[in-house]
Amino acid sequence: MKSKEPSFPKAERLIDVAIRRSFIMPSAEIYGAPAGFYDYGPVGCAIKRRLENLWRSEMLQKEGFHEIETSMILPEAVLKASGHAENFSDPIVSCKKCNARFRADHLLSENPAFAASGAKAEGMQDAELTDAIRKYKVACPNDKGELTEVARFNMMFKTAIGAGDERVAYCRPETAQGIFLDFARIVRNYGSRLPIGIGQVGRSFRNEISPRQGIIRMREFSQMELEYFFNPEKQSHAGFTGISGEKLVFELEDGKVEERTLAQALSDGIVPNEIMAYFLWKQERIYLASGIPRGKFRFRKIPANDTPHYSRGNIDLVVDTSYGWIETTGTAYRTDYDLSSHAKASGADLSVFVEEEKKKVVPHVVEPSMGVDRMFWCVLEHCFMEKTPEKDWEWFNFPPAIAPYHAWIFPLMRKDGMEEKAREVESLLRESGLIVYCQESGSIGKRYARADEIGVPYCVTVDYDTLKDGTVTLRFRNDGKQVRLAIGELAEKIASFVKEGKVALDLA
Ligand code: GAP
Repeated sequence: MKSKEPSFPKAERLIDVAIRRSFIMPSAEIYGAPAGFYDYGPVGCAIKRRLENLWRSEMLQKEGFHEIETSMILPEAVLKASGHAENFSDPIVSCKKCNARFRADHLLSENPAFAASGAKAEGMQDAELTDAIRKYKVACPNDKGELTEVARFNMMFKTAIGAGDERVAYCRPETAQGIFLDFARIVRNYGSRLPIGIGQVGRSFRNEISPRQGIIRMREFSQMELEYFFNPEKQSHAGFTGISGEKLVFELEDGKVEERTLAQALSDGIVPNEIMAYFLWKQERIYLASGIPRGKFRFRKIPANDTPHYSRGNIDLVVDTSYGWIETTGTAYRTDYDLSSHAKASGADLSVFVEEEKKKVVPHVVEPSMGVDRMFWCVLEHCFMEKTPEKDWEWFNFPPAIAPYHAWIFPLMRKDGMEEKAREVESLLRESGLIVYCQESGSIGKRYARADEIGVPYCVTVDYDTLKDGTVTLRFRNDGKQVRLAIGELAEKIASFVKEGKVALDLA
């Protein structure tokens, strides 16, 4: 039985917009759309790729790190060694009447009296959760039935490798494990000089008890994870000096929200080392570039009792959304937990020889782990623009670099050679690497509105003057103003507007 979710009218309206405009689609919709799975439509898929590429550019390419792609199905031994078989579980309660199952901490957090008490359900032990559920008389949201004691539910999807003599396997719950397993091979091929950065963009799977809030909590989702391997005796970062005066907003363990320079955050013990500070700053850059304004996200220090089993310090990037503040990125100091566990379980040597120290060390790891889908959702939320007297339609104010198309091209009318000319312009722009799309049908006003509705930053119109003098109009999405440009200079101009992030003619 499905549980009744708390309602979030603004988010539900946006999901509706997102589905109607081909951003996302419920997966297997014609078979009833099982909860926790979404597909990306043509518009959403394009934006998702841009976000992934923004991450690749900032986290890998500019840092000189490696990108790999590893198996999504892993033998049981891997997940036993990593601790996921034992620890990767959520607290669960069942209704004694209807047998529906719920995340115990979620149900408790949604109870008004518990919320008013100021206590936090995350991080509570199972016995504490059971006590609090009894104390606040939390009942089944479906039929008010009594709830069982809190038990544990492992979130991994189980499968089997091969027919006959089957081996138990799991769909990976994080992309990180594949990176740890390939570490020794990469060191052999590329050299063991630390630090080494290895990243991966890919799908992860978690059998969430109550998938909810659209694409925020899914059973199959995408992560962008970087494992930064370093010598534990060198917790400094070469890039830190240049950014130590940069300010980030932190939410401290007591709930206070304060701005600190990275140097202060380090000396106050908010971040464990320069490395973590550096990667928080990188996340700030990625979020700002993707259209989420400063002030709408911050870095939350996670109390020790709420960090994952492998971590010696976590800081989450949390974003203000219509569901509340949502964790979209977790950065963990994983130490040598994973490499040492896999070395012990497999017998492989996962240490590296440090030349200067003439000894072998098992590297430590700092891991920034960014969820693509949650980031995507936050971008939609913060770029969604309501109707105004000037623009009588809802639209998206995406930065041009992450918009689904760089430009749409319109023939003013489908006659007198304008359609053919528009197709020529389309080919020319595509040849130059721009992502463009030719739209012929509907009035020009309607076509501008349709482009705005999915956040296309520029519209190019081919009209009668184009046929005479080879010029077109280029309209800017945000103020609707236009300039006339020669077809020959169009590609270069659009590319430079994309780079500058110019979305209005009158913008300085
Ligand atoms: N390797 C570390 C790790 O997986 P995590 O905090 O469990 O850490 C990292 O996950 C990010 O993955 C989260 O911040 C979130 O953006 C995304 N994520 C986790 N579970 C998710 C889910 N069920 N649906 C969508 N995104 C999820």
